[in-house]
Amino acid sequence: MGKKLWGGRFKRKINKDFDRFQRSIQYDCKLAEYDIYHSIIHVAALREVGLLSAPEARKLTSTLNDIFDEVKEGRFKPNPNSEDIHTDIQNRVAKKVGKLALKLQALRSRNDQVVFDEKWYCYKEGIYILSLLNVLLSSLNHFGNRYRTFYVPGYTHTQRAQVISFLNYTGAFFCMFERDFERIDSFLKKSTIYIGSGALAGTAISKSAYSEAIRAFLEKTKSRLRQSKPDTVVNSLDNVSSRDFVVEFLSLLSILQMHLSRMAEDFILYSTKEFGFFGLPEEFCTGSSLMPHKKNPDFLELVRGYTGVVYGNLISVLTTMKGLPLTYNRDMQLDKEPLFSSTKIIKDELKIMTEFISGIKLNSEAIHKVLEDESLYATELAEFLVFKGVPFSEAHTIVGRLIRYSEDKKITIEKMSDKLLKTFHKKLSKTDLKKIMNPKHAVLSKKSTSRKLPKIKIK
Ligand code: ARG
Repeated sequence: MGKKLWGGRFKRKINKDFDRFQRSIQYDCKLAEYDIYHSIIHVAALREVGLLSAPEARKLTSTLNDIFDEVKEGRFKPNPNSEDIHTDIQNRVAKKVGKLALKLQALRSRNDQVVFDEKWYCYKEGIYILSLLNVLLSSLNHFGNRYRTFYVPGYTHTQRAQVISFLNYTGAFFCMFERDFERIDSFLKKSTIYIGSGALAGTAISKSAYSEAIRAFLEKTKSRLRQSKPDTVVNSLDNVSSRDFVVEFLSLLSILQMHLSRMAEDFILYSTKEFGFFGLPEEFCTGSSLMPHKKNPDFLELVRGYTGVVYGNLISVLTTMKGLPLTYNRDMQLDKEPLFSSTKIIKDELKIMTEFISGIKLNSEAIHKVLEDESLYATELAEFLVFKGVPFSEAHTIVGRLIRYSEDKKITIEKMSDKLLKTFHKKLSKTDLKKIMNPKHAVLSKKSTSRKLPKIKIK
């Protein structure tokens, strides 16, 4: 059993099973780095209000810095019996400085530490996810550019619809991930990491003492910490009892996951023999233990599958929070595993997807075969008639009949004589049809949508 941060009012020892059940150290050890930041700022604030002498503050800070180095160098091994990371670090300091450590927990609470740590975690991971998104965006950009001369069939209802340029296709995913980037970026810009809530009611340390402690901390660490901004708390009750920042972060990751999953599904579909448009990179596929011919798109399937986990993590935290009375409740400890889980999944997926995309090869033969399907040009044909003065619904019916006739009689429109075409409408001619029913013409006739990829903004 690890040494606790409480116990004076208890006569009986904690039940062993319950002690194991209540521990969070096995996962919240991820927060060690941020908990040390909290402690360093807190030491400076205690010094500001005279609760620590200058040598005491120096000793505690240098001990905390030593523990920080252990974390950074991967030497930090939490005691598995500690209740949580806050307890573990406190005990570690005590091991190194003895009694002086007892002063460290004055005027602060784990309720304040945990929210500080988690916000900082979101901030740091959020920045990393943005950098991964940037690389994914440029990989999509290259993918589109590699096949910039390609036209491909576009689908609605998973049925062949109209011809589109491949750049426009990759551009669609580019736009989705660019919005994800913007959303996460603005979430990070607005989030503030507070200190000074105490357990719920605030502490006897003044705002100016906290501000000075924060300023001194940022001064020493500015190169490492970039733009994250701790601040003195505005409403201590709100700070210790709110986890909407976790919910918001998980929502943003869920939207990003939805986009990854949809892209994965498209790639799965286009790599089937039935479509045959995409050749997938072998190093991200697996075989079958029984069927020798198989090359399965497992990475893409897992991306699609993990959507259940990522959405579930969001719902889990929303549900945990829904009926909690103010302020802190232990239920809130359970927000961490979902947060860490979604973050890890998204990071892995973004990294692998970037490489995956650079290994996809387009199969021009299979694509061209589909582009020969004349029905893909039916809309352009109707629009041709519209520009010749035929009302649209009439043009729609005429072309519909033409396609139906071609299907029933098993004769391609291309093979129909001028005489036959004119029985559908006098403005139809073989020469015009040849011009219209062509991928390049179909794409170039679209003036409203960009055929180029949006400019990638590297931040
Ligand atoms: N481990 C807790 C959590 O993650 C923080 C500790 C607060 N515990 C307490 N008894 N006040 O929420």
